[in-house]
Amino acid sequence: MDKFIADLMSKMTLEEKIGQLNLVTAGEATTGSVVSTDVEAKIKAGNIGGIFSMSSPAKIRKAQELAINQSRLKIPIIFGMDVIHGYRTVFPIPLGLAASWDMPLIRQTARISAIEASADGINWTFSPMVDISRDARWGRISEGSGEDTYLTSQIAKEMVIGYQGEDLSEYNTLMACVKHFALYGASEAGRDYNTTDMSLHRMYNEYLPPYKAALDAGAQTIMTSFNDINGVPATANKWLLTDLLREQWKFKGLVVTDYTAVNELIDHGLGDLQQVSALSLNAGVDMDMVGEGFLTTLKKSLQEGKVKIEDIDRACRLVLEAKYKLGLFDDPFRYCNEERAKTEILKSEHLKLAREAAGKSFVLLKNDQQTLPLKKQGTVAVIGPLANSGANMPGTWSVSADLGKTQSLVEGMREVLGNKVKIVTHLGANLTDDPKLQERSTMFGREIPRDERSSEEIIAEALSTSKDADVIIAALGESSEMSGESSSRTNLDIPASQKRLLEALLQTGKPVVLVLFAGRPMTLTWEDKHVPAILNVWFGGTETGKAVTDVLFGDVNPSGKLPATFPQNVGQLPLYYSHKNTGRPLAKDAWFQKFRSNYLDVSNDPLYPFGYGLSYTKFTYTDLQLSNKQFDRNGQLKATITLKNDGNYDGQEVVQLYIQDVVGSITRPVKELKGFQKIFLKKGESKKVEFTITEEDLKFYNQSLQLVAEAGEFRLFIGGNSRDVQETSFELL
Ligand code: IFM
Repeated sequence: MDKFIADLMSKMTLEEKIGQLNLVTAGEATTGSVVSTDVEAKIKAGNIGGIFSMSSPAKIRKAQELAINQSRLKIPIIFGMDVIHGYRTVFPIPLGLAASWDMPLIRQTARISAIEASADGINWTFSPMVDISRDARWGRISEGSGEDTYLTSQIAKEMVIGYQGEDLSEYNTLMACVKHFALYGASEAGRDYNTTDMSLHRMYNEYLPPYKAALDAGAQTIMTSFNDINGVPATANKWLLTDLLREQWKFKGLVVTDYTAVNELIDHGLGDLQQVSALSLNAGVDMDMVGEGFLTTLKKSLQEGKVKIEDIDRACRLVLEAKYKLGLFDDPFRYCNEERAKTEILKSEHLKLAREAAGKSFVLLKNDQQTLPLKKQGTVAVIGPLANSGANMPGTWSVSADLGKTQSLVEGMREVLGNKVKIVTHLGANLTDDPKLQERSTMFGREIPRDERSSEEIIAEALSTSKDADVIIAALGESSEMSGESSSRTNLDIPASQKRLLEALLQTGKPVVLVLFAGRPMTLTWEDKHVPAILNVWFGGTETGKAVTDVLFGDVNPSGKLPATFPQNVGQLPLYYSHKNTGRPLAKDAWFQKFRSNYLDVSNDPLYPFGYGLSYTKFTYTDLQLSNKQFDRNGQLKATITLKNDGNYDGQEVVQLYIQDVVGSITRPVKELKGFQKIFLKKGESKKVEFTITEEDLKFYNQSLQLVAEAGEFRLFIGGNSRDVQETSFELL
C-alpha cells in the first residue's frame, strides 16, 4: 500500500491533493444549511475525495464512473453515509440496542447493516457513536450507548467488528467512523453543540475510553465533534487530534470533521475561513465535511506559509489509504452490484434479527400484580399518538428507513395476533398541545396526525372506543424526532396532552399498560405511582410493532436493562450511578440531612437506576463468594454468585459486576461497572456465575494521567442493577 500511494501522490498536483480532502454531500440527509454544488464538475476536476448520503448502485456507479473515466488520475471516490442503527432493515435506536446488553446481537446488527448498506453502494459509515452522556436533556443521548464507560466501550468494539468484518476489503463491509471526538455528550445543560469543559482525569477515566476501545478494535476513521473542549473547539484542537490521538494513542487512520465543522470555527470565534481551515488542518484534521474551506483556502495558506505541504500530504495520504483498505483501487465498482441491492436488503433473516433485537431492547420498568404478559383473548384498546404511526417506529437518525412501509404498533399487533384478539384503536391525544412543538417534533416525514378538536372531545371519543376493552395499551411518549440531533429538551415529562389522556384511561378502572416510546430517559415519577405496568420500548426499528406484541403477550420475556439512569425530575440532571461520594454524603437510606449533599425537594435517588429492568420471571442472587480476599499484581481473584430463576417463566438476566476503589490518590466513583454476563435460565434453574478480576480491572488515570492500580481495599458488588447488589470486599497487595 505505501509504495502504491507514494507513487500515486508523486503524480498529483497540489490541487488534486487538496481535492482528496473534500467530502461533499449529494444533498440527501443533510443536517446543515450548506449543500454541495457543481458536484459533477468537481469530480471531473479531481476536487472531490468523498461523497456522502448518496445511495443505490446506479447513482454511485454514475458518480464513480465520472471519477474513473473523466478525472485525470482516476482516483476512486469513497461513499459515506449515516448507517447508525441499520440500513433499510432498521434496528432499535442505539440507546435501545445498548439496553439489550447483548454483545453478539449488537455485533450482528452492525454486520447486517454493513451487508445491506454495502449492497446499496456505500462503503463508509459514520458510526459507532460512542459519546457518553449523563444528561437526558441532550437529544443525541438516543444515538449512543448511554452513561457508562465500560458498557459503551464494549459496544463500540462490537460495532466496529460488525461493520468492518474480518477483512475490510471484502465487498460486504463498511469502514467504521467513531464519533464524535470528543466529549460531545457532555455539552453544557444538555444543549446540542454546546461547550464542554472537563478535567483531564475525568476525560481519561470516564469519557475517552470508548473512543479508544473503538480504535483499538480497528476503526479506521474518526469524526471530530462540534463542541469546544476546554476553550478549543474539537475540530481545531491540536492537543486532541495530534497529541492525544496520534501521539499517545498511535492512531494511524483518517480524521474527518462533522458537517461544516471547519466553517463553524468562524462562529466559535477562531477567525475567517482561511484561518480556521489552516487551524483545522494543522490540528490534525484530514478531511473536511461539506464546508469546502480546505478546497477553497489551503492553496493560499500554503503560499502564505500558514500550512505546510507535509500536512496536506499527510491528509491526502490518509484519505487514499482509506480507499486502498476498502479495495477501491483494485475495483472502484466493488460496491456497485445491482444484484446484491435487489437480494440482500430487507431479507427475512435481517427482519428476524430486527424483531429479536427490538424485543431484547425493551425495558420493563414496572409490572404490578403481573399485569403483563397479557392473554391472547378478548378486546384490547391501543390508544395514543404512537399507536398508529409506522413512520415513527424506526426512531431518529434512520435515514435509509422506508418510512412509508414500516408497520405501526397496531399493524404489527394485528399481524401477530390475527383474530385471536380484537383490537380497537384511537389517537386519544395530540402528541403535544403546542402545534409548533409538534411540527418541530415530526420533521423528516415522521408525521403523527393532529386533531384540532379540544382534548376533552378527543379523549371522550377514545374512551368510547375503549369501552368494551378488557385492557388498554397506552402508546405514549416522544415522537422519534423529539430526540436525536438538535432535539434537546428541558422538560422530560410525557407531554401534558398525553398525560391527560393517561389519567382518563386510568380512571376507567381497566388495566392500563403504558407502552412508552422514548429516545432518552424520561421523567416518569407520576406514571410510576399510578400506572400498573410500564414497558419502555425506545424506538425499536422496522419490526417494532411485532416485537412489542411479542413482549406484551408473553412470547418474549423482557430482559432489557437501562443503559442510562432515569431521574425523578430534570433538576437532578446530570445524574449517573458512578458519581463521586463527596465530602458530605448522605447517610445510607437517608432522604435529607442538613449540611449534606442533597436537595430540599427531592431525594438523590434516581427513579430507575442504571442497569435496572424487570422480567416476567424473578431472579434471585445468593451466595456471593470470592476465591481469595487478597491478590497481588500478577494474581487474580474469582467472584461467584448463584443466580436462580425463581419465577414462572424462562428468562434472561444481565448479571452486573461493579467495583469501588475505596481509597485513592484521586477521588474515585462510588461504583463502576467492570463486567456483566447475560444469562439464560429456564424456570426453576440456577447457575453459578463467575467473574475474574485482575489488576487491569482496578486501573485508573491518576492526577498525572498515569494508568495505575493502587494497592488497598476495593468493594465488589454483584446484582441485577447498579442499586440492588450484594457486596463484599478484597484487597490489592
Ligand atoms: O454523521 C453525522 C453527525 O453525527 C452529525 N452531523 C452530520 C454528520 C453527517 O451526516
